[in-house]
Amino acid sequence: MRRSTLSVLRCPACGQTLSLEGGEGAAGVTGRLVCPCHESFAIQDGIPDLVYPRSQPYVHEDADSYEDLIDWMARLLDEDVGDTRARAAELLEVSPGARVLEVACGPGSNFPYLLEHIGMEGELHAFDIAPDMLRIARQKLGEEPRNVELSLANGVHLPFADESFDALLHIGTLNRFGDVRRALAEMARVVKIRGKVVAGDEGIAPWLLSTDYGRILEKFGALFKGHPPLAALPPTARDVRIQWLFGDAYYLIDFRVDRRGRQLNIDIPLPGRRETVRDVLEKKPRITE
Ligand SMILES: C[S@@+](CC[C@H](N)C(=O)[O-])C[C@H]1O[C@@H](n2cnc3c(N)ncnc32)[C@H](O)[C@@H]1O
Ligand SMILES: [Zn+2]
Repeated sequence: MRRSTLSVLRCPACGQTLSLEGGEGAAGVTGRLVCPCHESFAIQDGIPDLVYPRSQPYVHEDADSYEDLIDWMARLLDEDVGDTRARAAELLEVSPGARVLEVACGPGSNFPYLLEHIGMEGELHAFDIAPDMLRIARQKLGEEPRNVELSLANGVHLPFADESFDALLHIGTLNRFGDVRRALAEMARVVKIRGKVVAGDEGIAPWLLSTDYGRILEKFGALFKGHPPLAALPPTARDVRIQWLFGDAYYLIDFRVDRRGRQLNIDIPLPGRRETVRDVLEKKPRITE
């Protein structure tokens, strides 16, 4: 962790600014991040542990065999996983110098595709709840590049300040975040106004569900029956799009973050009447000429 990362980090319990109690070593800062609310978060081997609540349960996946499993899935679906990851990264619509967050990054399989867009002048922040996943992500990064910041965190309580990122990518846990509405609201909160959120997970395209293809895939797990959680998107979501990719077995939602939710102009007169929508809602007397 670099000291400059402190500017985007916030206490996942209360949202306040964190201060560092510790020093700076070869792996960046060491010590603890401390909040005025009395929560404190250890930094181990340069990675802050910002998981909140501390006992958050999660589905443990074997980090060492994770990418082999995805490669096997690509063969089963007759797809190219690299193409899929590149398409998802493309949807972020970011340029060199952008600051991007990856939520639940696993072993860092999306990093090369994200780094290709943001360049060395950009910043990639990425977190997962599983230390084993980050261990592999870090091994793959090696010493370089130095513009990737890893942390341990829970996708339902993001330890980042509002509007910190130009864009955000999440693939693979949306069906399993206990509170998907909150997870999506958190994603929108930390992205800048007009920035993109791209989020997806397993879920067979509806038109394939009752085909042999769909029926066989469902046998690989109930998760393939997942539906895109459109009703759980935040009211600030705009330009919402959805597509199915990777064998039409995964949905991917992308949207822009707007400043506020939709609002009606209730002060216009109703067609052919002399009262406004507001008048009707407030049951005011009719407007007289
Ligand atoms: C299917 S993998 C996806 C990894 C990666 N995003 C990818 O595209 O391959 C799901 C990841 O979500 C992580 N995870 C599960 N629950 C989580 C949570 N509540 N907060 C953050 N990460 C979580 C798991 O540890 C795992 O690394
Ligand atoms: Zn706090």
